[in-house]
Amino acid sequence: MVLIAWTEAQHGTKVRFVGAEYKELFSLLNKLYDNATRGAARSQVGSSLDTLIIFVVGHFSHEEKEMIAKNYSGYDRHKEEHTKLLKTCGGLQIGFHAGEAEVTVEVGNMVKDWLDHHIPTFDAAFADALNS
Ligand SMILES: [Fe+2]
Ligand SMILES: [Fe+2]
Repeated sequence: MVLIAWTEAQHGTKVRFVGAEYKELFSLLNKLYDNATRGAARSQVGSSLDTLIIFVVGHFSHEEKEMIAKNYSGYDRHKEEHTKLLKTCGGLQIGFHAGEAEVTVEVGNMVKDWLDHHIPTFDAAFADALNS
């Protein structure tokens, strides 16, 4: 099942690398969600989860490097948002591999809501600075 679809209107930021990375991120997230909700093997869900989290870490650090390079004034507040999500995802990842947590519909919706809010609010806001 598809959890989230990338659209220019909702997720466009006018920053080329951000759009390209989100398309890939959404595809990894949809794959994880599909595996988890159709009852794929736990090992498969776990490897989709790990792949997604590695990609998200890379995406956030790419944005943060670019913000620092442009001396972007909203860096601290933006990084705080990234850190909060990574904390939640890291907790889920540890819990999943310990057999104490699952990737549920609620988890999928939480991540979708985070993206639907973060991209137009935080990522779109750094477009002028990053493209300058
Ligand atoms: Fe982002
Ligand atoms: Fe961001």
